[in-house]
Amino acid sequence: MERRGRKDTPRALGLTAAAVLALGAFTVWAAYGLSEITAKGGDVSHDGVRQITLRVYAWGFSPNVVRVAPGETVQFVVWSEDLQHGFAINELRLNLPLVPGKGVRSPAVTVSLPEGTYPIHCSVFCGMGHPSMKAKLVVGTPPPSRAIALPWIASLLGATVVVGFVAFARPRRGPA
Ligand code: CUA
Repeated sequence: MERRGRKDTPRALGLTAAAVLALGAFTVWAAYGLSEITAKGGDVSHDGVRQITLRVYAWGFSPNVVRVAPGETVQFVVWSEDLQHGFAINELRLNLPLVPGKGVRSPAVTVSLPEGTYPIHCSVFCGMGHPSMKAKLVVGTPPPSRAIALPWIASLLGATVVVGFVAFARPRRGPA
């Protein structure tokens, strides 16, 4: 019985490691992959200017991905649902202070940026989650960013480590 217990330990460790890594990989994947809420539908246009409405809250943006066409002229209407936040896109020189419960309108901006993904961030300190309060502005259809592949690479590496660990641990049987 004692020998069996010893033999089972590496396997139990391997399984635990696999579970932990799988959970970790899933969390990362979920954070990157599933969290995309894209602006669509509801935006209205006035005189060729698309009004993009966003809601902000502690600590995020909804939608958290805003897609615009290159050269498109847009206007952001941003509502804070709770605290004072800021809506900033450095590349568009936008920085709107937000007050709770009020729609704040940006000037109309023409997006003359190269196709790509640009950060949207909160520019007013709003507590613990402030540094992570981010969204994305996607101009055109840039090639998929490497960040999307990262969770997959991470989980592949994790799986390799686990398989390696289990395979390495198994043949080590003590002399009878
Ligand atoms: Cu919201 Cu800082």
